[in-house]
Parts: sequence; C-alpha cells; structure tokens
Amino acid sequence: MLISWWYLYLGAQSICRQVLNVASVLQKLIIPMVSGPSEPPRNKVTMVGVGQVGMACAVSILLRELVDELALVDVMEDKLKGEMLDLQHGSLFFKTPKIVSGKDYSVTTNSRIVIVTAGVRQQEGESRLNLVQRNVNIFKHIIPQIVKYSPNCILIVVSNPVDVLTYVTWKLSGLPKHRVIGSGTNLDSARFRYLMSQRLGVHPSSLNGWILGEHGDSSVPVWSGVNVAGVNLQKLNPEIGKDGDRENWKSTHKKVVDSAYEVIKLKGYTNWAIGLSVADLTESIIKNLHRVHPVSTMIKGMYGISDQVYLSLPCVLNRKGVSSVVNMSLTQDEVCQLKKSADTLWSIQKDLRNL
Ligand SMILES: NC(=O)c1ccc[n+]([C@@H]2O[C@H](COP(=O)([O-])OP(=O)(O)OC[C@H]3O[C@@H](n4cnc5c(N)ncnc54)[C@H](O)[C@@H]3O)[C@@H](O)[C@H]2O)c1
Repeated sequence: MLISWWYLYLGAQSICRQVLNVASVLQKLIIPMVSGPSEPPRNKVTMVGVGQVGMACAVSILLRELVDELALVDVMEDKLKGEMLDLQHGSLFFKTPKIVSGKDYSVTTNSRIVIVTAGVRQQEGESRLNLVQRNVNIFKHIIPQIVKYSPNCILIVVSNPVDVLTYVTWKLSGLPKHRVIGSGTNLDSARFRYLMSQRLGVHPSSLNGWILGEHGDSSVPVWSGVNVAGVNLQKLNPEIGKDGDRENWKSTHKKVVDSAYEVIKLKGYTNWAIGLSVADLTESIIKNLHRVHPVSTMIKGMYGISDQVYLSLPCVLNRKGVSSVVNMSLTQDEVCQLKKSADTLWSIQKDLRNL
C-alpha cells in the first residue's frame, strides 16, 4: 500500500516537471492576477485619414501622451498599414499602449474623440470652398460609420472647407451640436499670434489675439481685443488693423490668410501647425480643461446670424465638447464681417443635397 502511494507521488512529480518544461516563457514569467476580458479603452482617439494632416495630428497627440488607444482609418490599405507599423515601431518612445488600424470602422469602436482629416486637399491656388462637393461625397460614407461604432464620441472635423464640412458632419451624424466641432480658426489664431508676437518680441502665448469666423479667406481678426499682459494694442494705436494705419498691422492678418497658400506653394501641403493645434484641442477635451479655443461651432442665433452655419467663436472645451461660447464684445465692423462670413457659407450650404 505504502509502495503504491510512493509510485503515485513520483508520477505526479514527473507530470509537474513535464508541464513546467513545456510551459512557454510567457507562462513561466508572468503570473496572472486578474482574469476575464480586457477593459475597453478610456481615452481612445480615432484618426480618419492618414495623409499629411492626419499623421501630423496623430504624432502630436501621441507625443502629448493623451490617449490609451489610437485607431487609424483610411481607404488606402498599404499606406494605412505602413503608417500603423511605423508608429508601432516607435512604441518605446510613446505612452500609448495600443495603436490599431483598419479600413473597416469596427477598429474605431469606443472612441472618445474621432478626428476627420480625410478627403482631398487644395491644389496650388485653389480656395478651400472649391473643395466642398468632392469632400461632401466622401463624408457621406465616413460619418455614419463613425457614429455606428462610437455613438458617444466627439467629432473634430479638420478637412476643408472645414466650416461647411463641420455643418455637413453635424447633419449626417445626428449628434448634438456641442459634440461636433470644427478645428476652425484655432490654426489661424495660432498663426496670427505667432506673426504678431514676432513684431513685438514676445512669445506667442503672451499675446492674446483672436481670429474668428471662417477658416479661410473671410476670417475676422478681432483687433479690438488684441493685448499683451492686458494692455490693449488698440488703445496704443486706435488705427490698428485699419486701412491707412501707418504701422500697417493689417498686413499681419493678410499674411495669416495667405499663409496656407504660401506653405502649399513651397512644400505642397500644410501639416505640422494644424497637427499641433488639433492635439491642443484634443487635450482640452480629454483632460476636461475648460480652456477657451477659437473653434467652429453652430452659431445660429448669435450676433444676429439666423442661418445654420458653423463658424469660429471662442468656445469653452471640456469632456462634453463645446460646453459654452464666450460672448465676445465685438465692434460693429467685426460683427458685420462675421455676418458676411456666415452669408458666404450659407450661400454654399443651401445648395448641398442629400444631407
Ligand atoms: N482645417 C485646417 O486648418 C486644415 C489645415 C490643413 C489641411 N486641411 C485639410 O485636411 C485635409 C487633408 O489634407 P492632407 O494634406 O492630409 O491630404 P492627403 O491627401 O495627404 O490625405 C488625405 C487622406 O484622406 C484619405 N481618404 C480619402 N478618402 C477617404 C475616405 N473615404 N475614407 C478614409 N480616408 C480617405 C486619403 O487616402 C488620404 O490618405 C484636406 O481637406 C485639407 O484641405 C485642413
């Protein structure tokens, strides 16, 4: 009896040894403490369109350590896979543990923010508004897919003409207006603050200045509010921004309007500044910062505008999207310019079909 128990004990020991020998390095190294399916991501961002702008946005977001999952979508499968692999190979230097991609929108499931940069871009000398119909057709395919897989997401539209396409996205998505945002004049304002700060010898963050209205040719510089450390520049020079101002500050706004055309002429596209500015918006939303940004929002009912147009105003961004709009004191002339932008956009939007 004793001998048979002894043989049983030896047999069990040999089985254990065999099991230990066949166990993988992973099984030998890692002792699981929790079981069950993995948790859904908390801060997932999807980039639709992995062209120059999409990838600049993606890298800027990764470097700011904002997300726990990044999904990439595009129609060009090889390019898409190549971009995903290239980013994954940089994982050592990011703190985003999961980077996925696919043509199928199921990879975007559970996104908190979806950034749309897909579409055709301007050719040299082409206005943003000229792109509209080509990009509307693309959006009809993209937007319903995004909402299907992430019904609670916030959408940030970057593709041009951004104000019209943000309106199109709002219509196609059925989402509430505070969750559909256009990158708008966030970039124009950054360009303005850079150019102004160069003339004054301060860092752009120390100069407050807002470009509102259309992201494009009819954008509105709010000269009445430009200040450094609260010192209003218009009080120092009442002619600032006007025709005939001997210091010609107006040329700074002209340079802002021309800057995209200039960069496109030189390198074929713009991407770094827009990428950085979109990452800044993403941060305000993900971290619930309540920071104020000039972004494109539905402005019907504000400043006497009666059409459903998206234009940039100073918006408070938090985890819900646009939580509120700052009621900026504008001069009569600035309000007139804003209305003109709204009229320009509505004249295009009213002819769009099947939204
Ligand atoms: N709002 C801004 O401030 C701003 C600044 C710069 C550029 N843009 C705009 O961003 C957009 C992208 O510019 P880009 O330079 O990256 O262009 P790009 O040509 O480099 O990239 C566009 C990408 O969209 C993809 N795409 C096309 N159709 C698609 C679809 N149906 N689904 C998914 N992906 C699709 C293309 O395959 C391509 O990879 C343009 O409309 C451009 O005008 C906006």
